[in-house]
Amino acid sequence: MSLKRSSSSFFIFLFSFFFLSSHVSLQACQKTCGQIPIKYPLGTGSGCGDPRFTRYITCDPDQQTLTLTTHTGSYPITSVDYAKQEIYVTDPSMSTCACTRPSHGFGLDWDAPFSFHDDTVFTLLDCSVDESPVFTPLSNGSGRVSLCDRQSSSICTFLYSNCRAISLINLQVSTCCVYVPLDLGPSFEMDLNKLKCSSYSGFYNLGPGQESHPENWNYGIALKYKFNVFDEYPGVCGSCERSNGACGFNTQSSSFVCNCPGGINTTSDCFFLYNSASILVPWFSREWVMYPLSWFVVWMVMVLR
Ligand SMILES: *[C@@H]1O[C@H](CO)[C@@H](O)[C@H](O)[C@H]1NC(C)=O
Ligand SMILES: *[C@@H]1O[C@H](CO)[C@@H](O)[C@H](O)[C@H]1NC(C)=O
Repeated sequence: MSLKRSSSSFFIFLFSFFFLSSHVSLQACQKTCGQIPIKYPLGTGSGCGDPRFTRYITCDPDQQTLTLTTHTGSYPITSVDYAKQEIYVTDPSMSTCACTRPSHGFGLDWDAPFSFHDDTVFTLLDCSVDESPVFTPLSNGSGRVSLCDRQSSSICTFLYSNCRAISLINLQVSTCCVYVPLDLGPSFEMDLNKLKCSSYSGFYNLGPGQESHPENWNYGIALKYKFNVFDEYPGVCGSCERSNGACGFNTQSSSFVCNCPGGINTTSDCFFLYNSASILVPWFSREWVMYPLSWFVVWMVMVLR
């Protein structure tokens, strides 16, 4: 009788240990958000990733969507290239070859840890030829100096003539302006109300020979980020991620935290945890021991009944 009871409680203990040590959802910092893998410096919530990114990039826990938020709105993140340190976002108010939409523009916060990638090309559409400052920026009598990239004006021609959605509304090509981020200056802002344009289109990584095929362009905005002034990946975070942890930080002190599977935090990596667990219960930390052992306990409980 007492043997039966103690074996059942041993089984429960073993089951909970196994459950706790393998159940990943207990890890406060997720390693994916929907289809997108999450690695440093991005994080899925407070205390995850790099503190400078937490305010701008969030993962909706129910929808599992990764979103960039700036003072101009919220934008779905479509992918992240961690090797190139690039983030790709879409703007639901942006026009593409398939449809035109009115927009207020797009802006980054001046203190955000990322900037426009050089590959991003903005095309301002339906701008007022007489009033838009992109066509007449200087009013000191020296004549009209356009802020648009004239050498790339073929982009306007292709967009206006090869895209049905745009050609249907019958705009003049002269209302189009190719605006590269360099021209955006330090304001990080493309305010279409100020620029007197009614919509815009953005795309990145225009491949060779693709210029005349606006239906194939990658519509969206490419952003780049840096880890720090020297742009070095923090070594402690590398070993945390290699040990199956997620890099995070203490919300009070901002100091580094490695969030390990099972929800335990360390200041280094999760190998440390596995090592100390195997010192306490040497054979518990090995899965090939855990599985047969659990079945053996189940079998024992059945036999004793
Ligand atoms: C571990 O760190 C994460 C991220 O900083 C935090 O959300 C969580 O509360 C911490 N857990 C413990 C047990 O301290
Ligand atoms: C107008 O402004 C531009 C740029 O600031 C300057 O180069 C130019 O000399 C100015 N012209 C006159 C007439 O002030």
